Amino acid sequence: MLRNQFHALLATLLILSSSTTAHAQSPNAASRKLVIAHRGASAYAPENTLPAFRLALDMGADFVEYDLQVTKDKQLVCLHDETLERTTNVEDIFPHRYRSVTRDKARTKRWYVYDFTLAEIKRLDAGSWAEARFRDTCIPTFQETLDLIRGRAGHFVELKKPDDYNAMGVDMERLVLAQLERNNLAKPDADARTPVIIQSFSARSLQKIAIELKSILPLHLLTPAEDKDGWLTRDGLAKAKTFCAGISPHKTSLSKNPEIIAWAHELGLRVTPYTFAAANAGETPPLRAEISRFLYTLKVDGVITNNPDVAKAPERK
Ligand code: G3P
Ligand code: CA
Repeated sequence: MLRNQFHALLATLLILSSSTTAHAQSPNAASRKLVIAHRGASAYAPENTLPAFRLALDMGADFVEYDLQVTKDKQLVCLHDETLERTTNVEDIFPHRYRSVTRDKARTKRWYVYDFTLAEIKRLDAGSWAEARFRDTCIPTFQETLDLIRGRAGHFVELKKPDDYNAMGVDMERLVLAQLERNNLAKPDADARTPVIIQSFSARSLQKIAIELKSILPLHLLTPAEDKDGWLTRDGLAKAKTFCAGISPHKTSLSKNPEIIAWAHELGLRVTPYTFAAANAGETPPLRAEISRFLYTLKVDGVITNNPDVAKAPERK
């Protein structure tokens, strides 16, 4: 009898513990497969805006990924490009505030974020380019994004062009860490429901954060489709491990050489490839299968995706 009761209790505990894992609020759990909403739920709302971040939260994303740039008055804002013309109406609002630059041997006009104050940037419409119903959506500040996401998901914060900002005398890394500090988010365990991971394509910038600025936040090194610097070799990964908690490679690097995942795991590096996206709106079955292959066959630790709703319910093999 006692033995039966013990087994019943054990079974109950096991069920409770597995359901706690499945529905855990904290995205910290090392064994969880992380769904990271790329630029928010950017398949459905304009990238790097509060509507895209809100939607990602509603879809249950574990982390929201977004990009940071720095304004003329040293404010951090969420934007992928270092210039404003692709995703805003800057050409209409500030027609003369461009720089003439040479791209692919042709002169072209570019409106750089660092030439505009935050007040000026807040005048821009960052929603209409994606869909008319998002008209007058603003570029969000880092602070607005921290406030929105806090307690509901983790932050997957990408520093864009930190080397360029440093070269202009802007200490982007210090700005980011100071803002996280002001929000009590600069320590890994500061808020279990709001973990922070910092990522960048710049290894130098991540090394600065880890070594010079002594941050103990987890860092992920982003690597491009062509791994020119050799980070995804055994030696490269061992070097990355000296300042990183994980890598975020382009997914094709892992398709071509899935061994990278085992090499990274042997070193204790988390692997979160990018970017998983439906080819066309509504075409989710191929995406679901692709995400499942990466999560459960290749065994990556998470996916960075424009469609967090699809990734939250991948098909299991
Ligand atoms: O998180 C990975 C991904 O964001 C890196 O590429 O260009 O979309 O910032 P990108
Ligand atoms: Ca990014």
